[in-house]
Amino acid sequence: MAGRIPPEFIDQLLARIDIVDVIDKHVPLKKAGKEYQACCPFHTEKTPSFTVSRQKQFYHCFGCGAHGSAIGFLMDYDHMGFVEAVEELARDAGLEVPREQGGSSKPAEDFSRLYQLLEQASHFFQQQLRQHPQASQAVDYLRRRGLSGEIARDFGIGYAPPGWDHLFSHLAKESQDIRALQAAGLVSIADSGKPYDRFRNRIMFPIVDARGRVAGFGGRILDGDGPKYLNSPETPVFRKGEILYGLYDVRRSHAGKQQILVVEGYMDVVALAQFGIRNVVATLGTATTERHLELLFRTAPRVVFCFDGDRAGREAAWKALQTALPSMKTGREARFLFLPEGEDPDTLVRSKGADAFRELVANAPTLSGFLFEHLREQVDTSTLDGRARLADMAKPLIARIPPGSLHDLMHQELAHLTGLEMKEARADAPAPERPPRGAEIGRENSLVRHAIRLLLEEPRLALDENLPADWRSSKRKGIHLLAELIDLVRNQPDTRSSALIERWQDERLKKHLAELASTRLNIPEESYPVEFRHALERLTNQYHKELYAELIQQRSLTDEQKEQLRQLTKSKLGSQSADP
Ligand code: UTP
Ligand code: MN
Repeated sequence: MAGRIPPEFIDQLLARIDIVDVIDKHVPLKKAGKEYQACCPFHTEKTPSFTVSRQKQFYHCFGCGAHGSAIGFLMDYDHMGFVEAVEELARDAGLEVPREQGGSSKPAEDFSRLYQLLEQASHFFQQQLRQHPQASQAVDYLRRRGLSGEIARDFGIGYAPPGWDHLFSHLAKESQDIRALQAAGLVSIADSGKPYDRFRNRIMFPIVDARGRVAGFGGRILDGDGPKYLNSPETPVFRKGEILYGLYDVRRSHAGKQQILVVEGYMDVVALAQFGIRNVVATLGTATTERHLELLFRTAPRVVFCFDGDRAGREAAWKALQTALPSMKTGREARFLFLPEGEDPDTLVRSKGADAFRELVANAPTLSGFLFEHLREQVDTSTLDGRARLADMAKPLIARIPPGSLHDLMHQELAHLTGLEMKEARADAPAPERPPRGAEIGRENSLVRHAIRLLLEEPRLALDENLPADWRSSKRKGIHLLAELIDLVRNQPDTRSSALIERWQDERLKKHLAELASTRLNIPEESYPVEFRHALERLTNQYHKELYAELIQQRSLTDEQKEQLRQLTKSKLGSQSADP
């Protein structure tokens, strides 16, 4: 791992660049009043609701809710990682990205050689499918499975010939290449120290990452012994939890703007494409991860998971559903299609045709449909105890869905199914697999939210020297964060809102702040300073009340506390009209 990028550098970088220029390079912007606009690159629309603010250094789409800083834009638009986006912006700004020196950190590694070798390997495999003397068995196999030559070319399908060192001797030109080939997952080293090809006598499916670079391979055996598919091992450039087979093509062809299908096998993606269904991706023999879901929902608002109808398929689907719950923001939809037993998308589309397959997809059960059906199978809803168990099982699951209509409707549905008036399960009820809450701003504390919201709009509000400060001792949620944000701006008065958001390590906090920053503020700009001071004054009042209530309960007080109480009583008498 490379050393961490110091948060101060992110501040500095965001202060140096202009988001309008960054975005304008990719999406031409038009000036509209104080802001800039375009049709949103993240969803289809005819009238522009994608807005970029130079003042805030922030973009926001009122249509689909996409939002973020220049860093976030590059991450979403160009599918870059955070570090990659920072590096790109720094390059344009003529800045060197500093790295913190840590015990285990090393300088950033350069994987370009790995990508180069993987690309060359892919070419080699494709060439072998055309030229190798034994390639005819591979070609026959593909033909038997109904693949057209054209589709095999589209997907870069190749052939790793039998034998131990075809690829190795083709690519290893210098001694250091052996290590690189091994790091790329193409070559293994025998106990004797001799390198040998990992993929032998297999049909090769190149797997490209979100930026179109070959990152790994899936290799199918023709027949005989051995695992049916052999995949590249996890490497620095090939992480199965972060890559989806076919996603790059789906995005490039804009086939999946409305809806994207997730299937289990490479062959399924290829077969469906051959039948004109091109909005399809596959996981790489692993469970669906949260990262997958983010990639999917960034591509399309509706994701349809396609599983075998057997037990294993249903279990995998249930797992996928659980992973998907926290991603189900308003505007997103997930469906779960179960195929007849013994069929997969490949066999089905070949036997029934594309239209029949499309029809199945169109009628796929919704997430809520599948969730309740799955739970109802486990209880007897004709008994009171069964219905109680149903409620107990459903509530923590529903609690993991972000607030919004799906969340609400599922509560209603549960109430309907159980005949119980539901108390809303608290969104922060302990739920399995949920990361711990960090410095999150409590939803209940709207004053803190409001203050932070204003600060994100206009960081310079923090520079007002007459702001009250007592509230800082309050133990309410979010207080600490608010104080930190104010101090940040005071230490560095040119801090922009984007920097206030990007400088944190905690991804959840970042997301939280970004979401907050993109909510509308229906207050005229000239009232911001008053609003902000007001919010802090009211927080101070709240804190005083809490403190007062606490102190008068105590049996004995220190001198300091006595003085506090005296002061509080005095100010209480002086400000009876303060808010409740
Ligand atoms: P399937 O067994 O459903 O394969 O595994 P498939 O795609 O239908 O293959 P064909 O039609 O028999 O050729 C689905 C996925 O699981 C992973 C692969 O990613 C495969 O595409 N898998 C499966 C493995 O990684 N290794 C295996 O041995 C089997
Ligand atoms: Mn299959």
